[in-house]
Amino acid sequence: MSEKDRGQWGSKVGFILAASGSAIGLGNIVFFSANAYKFGGGAFYLPYFIALFVIGMPVMILEFGLGHSTRRAFPESLHEAAGKAGEFVGWWALMNASFITLYYITILGWVVGMFVGSFGHLWAEAVATPKFAMDSLPNPHGYFFSMLSSWKPVVYVALVWFLNGILVRRGVATIEAAVKVFVPLMWIFMIVLIIRGLTLPHGTQGLWLLFTPNFEVMKDPAVWQGAFSQIFFTLSLGFGVMTAYASYLPKNSDSTNNAILTSLMNCGFEYIAGLAVFSILFAFAMVPQASTLAMMFFIVPKGIGQLPGGEPWVIAFGLMFFLLLLLAGLSSSVSLVEGLASSLIDKFRVSRAKALTVFCVFGFVGSAVFTLPQVVNPGLENDGTMGLTLLDLTDHWAFSYGLLIVGLLECLLLGWAFGVSRLWRHINATSRWHLGAWYDALIKFVIPALILFVLVWAVRAEFRDGLYGLSYADNFTSGFRWMAQSPLFILGFWLLVTVGLAAGFTLKGSYTSKRGKA
Ligand code: TRP
Repeated sequence: MSEKDRGQWGSKVGFILAASGSAIGLGNIVFFSANAYKFGGGAFYLPYFIALFVIGMPVMILEFGLGHSTRRAFPESLHEAAGKAGEFVGWWALMNASFITLYYITILGWVVGMFVGSFGHLWAEAVATPKFAMDSLPNPHGYFFSMLSSWKPVVYVALVWFLNGILVRRGVATIEAAVKVFVPLMWIFMIVLIIRGLTLPHGTQGLWLLFTPNFEVMKDPAVWQGAFSQIFFTLSLGFGVMTAYASYLPKNSDSTNNAILTSLMNCGFEYIAGLAVFSILFAFAMVPQASTLAMMFFIVPKGIGQLPGGEPWVIAFGLMFFLLLLLAGLSSSVSLVEGLASSLIDKFRVSRAKALTVFCVFGFVGSAVFTLPQVVNPGLENDGTMGLTLLDLTDHWAFSYGLLIVGLLECLLLGWAFGVSRLWRHINATSRWHLGAWYDALIKFVIPALILFVLVWAVRAEFRDGLYGLSYADNFTSGFRWMAQSPLFILGFWLLVTVGLAAGFTLKGSYTSKRGKA
């Protein structure tokens, strides 16, 4: 396939909007705040900043530089750098990211449901949730759980997959057109939310919790694992998408500058989103449970429900909040759809329409699994429905381990097998700000050592405390207890499917014979 057929970004602004659109997502608006709260506010943001500068930016430069130099999607560019083993890591990253995308899109489906509900009784007083132990919960808590225990989300999930297909139907051209609208709107909505939050009585007190460092908690490796995986997730690293996006850049692009701009825009957004969320929480004296989904679907919405000005304002802010989540989520999920589609097109030379149709149909089925409405835990101490429980268990492996494993492997492959200095010489040729020997040290030693440390620690903790999810068993209705008693089942499924598919894609067909070096 010639360079021209692959497409190219129309402008640098278009690329930066798309890359930051991929980076800015649910991770920024709610996961960051939920993580920060879980680890005690100030205990989180220092490890988070260290992770941003020591791991996030250097790895983003690596992923951009790789795509820019090979002008190919992730598996093929890693193939060029490190042979079959590299290619396998590339496909595995995409498969792991696909698992994340499946439930990410389910969450976006629920967001659509909340948006639709805002026109109905979502913001009314209370709603009956007969399938759960409490007969009625205050809205939007109640609305969320009654939606979850129905089949409606299947329709919403279908809609979100359809939108994804539409947005990438002509590759970077349609993505660029969409992000030019989505990303500026996201910033505007976020700024409106912050102003509303900070001008509430006591709103600014939340900031103390967010910004007072806690050095004691920082001794706990769990905080570091949380910060490292959050950085990978929020910057879209380890998904294979940044390499795909950078492969559509003109030859003279500045990878270092692009990476620094994208990460700063992303983390700036995340930071101010933290201000908005924490100020709303404090103004209404709410205790966010650690769960990220709770934060998104009923803690923050509960705050919105109490905003002054009466129902019209509540509904307006509610609609804006859910629309913000939807736009932010869509501009992230399309990056993976594009990253995987372009990898399949590059290797198997299928048509874009065919690759997208197959992927969206499979994706829809996968995401529908996370909407399964059977109530497994009527007391709601843990996840209430089957879909939610499967989501939580899958997230634990694909998010907290998968992304870090990809990060570790890509640094080792590019650092040692390929030789990172070859890459940074290429990057330096078109960059204003030059990388040097210190960058070798980061990619070859420092980053792998840090990631390895938290991974080994985390695996040891799983053995020590029992696999994640085991403790759910006590709350689950007897018919469903197997799910919590065998979290190994989810772990095994995730490993088997991702490794199997990645091996299949690597071994089938070959890249040779197709093109001269770019
Ligand atoms: N960076 C996104 C966020 O913070 C996450 C993300 C990036 C993502 N690419 C993705 C999620 C692809 C799903 C699919 O939310």
